Amino acid sequence: MNIPFSPPYIDQSVIDEVVSSLNSGWITTGPKVKSLEEEIASYTGVKSVLCVNSWTSGAIMILKWIGVKEGDEVIIPAYTYSATALAVLHCGANPIMVDVTENFNISIEAIKKAITSKTKAIIPVDIAGWPCVYNSIINLVKMPNILEKFIPESEIQSKLGRIIVISDSAHSFGATQKGKSAAAISDISIFSLHAVKNLTTAEGGAICINLPKSFDNNETYKFLRMMTLNGQTKDAFTKTKIGGWKYDIIMQGLKINLPDVCAAIGLAQIKQYPKLLLERERVFKRYSDLLSIYNWIQLPPQDNDLQKSSYHLYALRIKNIDEKQRDLIIDEITKVGIAVNVHFIPLPMLSLFKDLGYNIQNFPVAYDNYSREISLPIYPQLTNEQVDFIIAHVVKGYNTVIKNY
Ligand SMILES: Cc1ncc(COP(=O)(O)O)c(C=O)c1O
Repeated sequence: MNIPFSPPYIDQSVIDEVVSSLNSGWITTGPKVKSLEEEIASYTGVKSVLCVNSWTSGAIMILKWIGVKEGDEVIIPAYTYSATALAVLHCGANPIMVDVTENFNISIEAIKKAITSKTKAIIPVDIAGWPCVYNSIINLVKMPNILEKFIPESEIQSKLGRIIVISDSAHSFGATQKGKSAAAISDISIFSLHAVKNLTTAEGGAICINLPKSFDNNETYKFLRMMTLNGQTKDAFTKTKIGGWKYDIIMQGLKINLPDVCAAIGLAQIKQYPKLLLERERVFKRYSDLLSIYNWIQLPPQDNDLQKSSYHLYALRIKNIDEKQRDLIIDEITKVGIAVNVHFIPLPMLSLFKDLGYNIQNFPVAYDNYSREISLPIYPQLTNEQVDFIIAHVVKGYNTVIKNY
């Protein structure tokens, strides 16, 4: 049986929506992007949503918008995809990596210890689709002793008056906290709409703007929209209108807008997202039910009264094994045609970050999570029969490696 890791969900409605964009004569940013933004805002309950061409570009733009610059510090987990740190480096600032907890997400205690007078932002990451407890992080940045440390150095920073919380929600479209979208709790949340994500536009990102009352979220949206278009006062669609040829460039923007032809994929998917999420939940729960009988398995965080996952990854850990044994188990599973993965290689183990002086020994929980982790395939199209086949080979792989080691 050949089981891919994360194929995109492409049905006839997706194809029809893309063809409709192609037939419309308008393929770059226009009505389909607008509709997708409205659908995401309505699904998440977030005030304004701005689509861009990736999570990474969106994060760089948001950090630049709030005025993050050389010498500033941005707190991130050591256990994440490199883009979380790269966005900070692109602004010339220092990513301050902190350790995570056993549930994969950033440690709030570690955040507290890492905050200094140079801290401008915190980027928690909803690893595997498991939402961080954002209320606690927002409460933390509002604590009097933390507010005292904050030194605003831009107009936006002065207006906010505290460290901004930007959620890396690359994995967590559909995750909730007490029934509320996790994206409606932090100041800014950015979803990735990359091909392997729960909701995709092939490549893309969606910035959820959820700033406090001192900001007009709609005005912020308009400003940021301009920033995605080279700082140009009129987008290509507006320029087609009578007298629309005249424009100005009012800032040094980026060119990171999402094209309509890509938005069409996400638009068709979001219309059926509740059904797609239920299918992911079916796979997730089947894995958990069937794997829970093995005492050598550590299940990923399971839904509780507070948090509900988006079931983006099934991040299994195996107890009492080392990195080498994990790699051998992966080889056994891969041999029979099942594609698995590891999320993530902690950033301090990657060359760029090692060369910058980060050391994995300072992040013991991140290393422990990584060394025992195997991500199993999870997507709506995966059948129960395939899930059972995967589990049988996880068990077989474990038995083979552990007996022979
Ligand atoms: C946690 C995390 N953050 C950010 C990104 C970057 O997303 P994009 O590829 O849309 O830039 C990814 C992509 O896999 C991710 O896993």
